[in-house]
Amino acid sequence: MTLLWTSEDLIAAMAGRPFGTLPAGVNGISIDSRTVAPGDAFFAIKGDRVDGHNFASLAVANGAELLVVSEAKLPALGRLVTPMIVVDDVLEALRLLGIAARARTGARIIAVTGSVGKTTTKEMLRLALSPSGRVHAAVASFNNHWGVPVTLARMPADTEYGVFEIGMNHPGEITPLVHQVRPHVAIITTIAAAHLGNFHNLKEIAAAKAEIFDGVEPGGHVLLNRDNAQFGFLEKAAQTAGIVHIHSFGQHAKAEYRMAEYDGGSERSTLWATIGGETLEVEIGAPGRHIAENAVAALAAVSLSGADVHKAAAAFATLSAVKGRGARHRLAIGHGSFTLIDESYNANPASMRAAIAVLAASVPQGQGRRIAVLGDMLEMGEFAAKVHGELASVLLAAGIEHVWLAGPEMAALKNELPDSVSVAYHDTTDALAAFAAASVGEGDVVMVKSSLGLGFGKIIATLLDMYPAFSDTGRLN
Ligand SMILES: Nc1ncnc2c1ncn2[C@@H]1O[C@H](COP(=O)(O)OP(=O)(O)OP(=O)(O)O)[C@@H](O)[C@H]1O
Ligand SMILES: [Mg+2]
Repeated sequence: MTLLWTSEDLIAAMAGRPFGTLPAGVNGISIDSRTVAPGDAFFAIKGDRVDGHNFASLAVANGAELLVVSEAKLPALGRLVTPMIVVDDVLEALRLLGIAARARTGARIIAVTGSVGKTTTKEMLRLALSPSGRVHAAVASFNNHWGVPVTLARMPADTEYGVFEIGMNHPGEITPLVHQVRPHVAIITTIAAAHLGNFHNLKEIAAAKAEIFDGVEPGGHVLLNRDNAQFGFLEKAAQTAGIVHIHSFGQHAKAEYRMAEYDGGSERSTLWATIGGETLEVEIGAPGRHIAENAVAALAAVSLSGADVHKAAAAFATLSAVKGRGARHRLAIGHGSFTLIDESYNANPASMRAAIAVLAASVPQGQGRRIAVLGDMLEMGEFAAKVHGELASVLLAAGIEHVWLAGPEMAALKNELPDSVSVAYHDTTDALAAFAAASVGEGDVVMVKSSLGLGFGKIIATLLDMYPAFSDTGRLN
């Protein structure tokens, strides 16, 4: 197997000092001692909570072949006999290695930013590009000041398509990251109220996302959402940044890559997309208009990257929603089953609306109910009460009659919901989990969504623990 990096290249890229007898090279890059794989280089990064140097021996126990450590911490690591590369600043060394990875590759590079849908679109691109060549894409949501460089550093030299997620909570975060990634194609999925507490309005959020234009390769492409209210602003910002190829996607009649039609099912969906003058019928293995919108953006990026659009479209049939972002479980209860939709990973006004629409399109069985189990959307600052209260009209319009809530901000929603809706409110996630486990019934469709900080994963875990997976075949035996 070819090495990901030779030790020689590592030293050159990071201007590091070898310490001990270095191996020929490494097969992987790790910054988490718990998930180190044998043959990895472990970078001892100092994070918000922990310093990787304190976990160096655990990384070695898990198979790390090489440690990248800081000069200042070296004396404290004296008892370790593992070879090391010593640098001034480990995070900076990782950044330099990422830049070297980008410099050595001939891959077409796609970067995805936006308020929601980055990871979903990135995973779609991984699936869509795989039939066309070797794809390297970020793990999970690796999109910040360590996630982006670690993803770059992990990119094999012979990668043909590289897909990167770039995120931000504050203005100024995207600029340095996109300069590392240097995409040929940059996508802004949509602009919506996420991390709104750090901004005054949506235009400020759009301006921060527009930083992605600064790092697009000369002659590169940008893809903007034509349906989003910030389209005009972003288009101008792209022109100002000197982007020549500005493209649009969406349902808008003037969108260049257009979703001509959408047929949403309960568990799957079909869309008709106009890509490069041709209309493709695309089956997607997950429901939701928002997923279909991301699919159009992904197909446009596939086309602009010169990969095979037909194979990409066919690949979406095998898509399934990701854990915490719409993954579905069918669980046995009574003489039948209920459906659990896991949206516990995050929530903001845009993704709440998308998930409520998916719940509305779901079909309960028999006497089953559609139940929205909702927790606070965090980081909304002074807008918190308003955005939570506004969900009442969204739920009513969607015809959701059962709403179970927890979290201080959700009190605003509870107050807005009329008596026609059956509402349960609990102060804590634990109390809501117990209530949900005791109250769910046969035929129900239960959608659980909240910001991660509320810990709604606990509600999912409780239900999965209490109710076994339902299997049709099992019941026939
Ligand atoms: N285009 C979209 N419009 C609205 N909601 C969306 C869209 N795409 C995905 N979502 C929903 O938003 C939530 C987050 O999705 P995803 O993880 O893809 O976003 P992200 O931008 O990567 O988030 P993060 O900033 O946390 O990394 C999920 O609930 C998902 O279903
Ligand atoms: Mg993400």
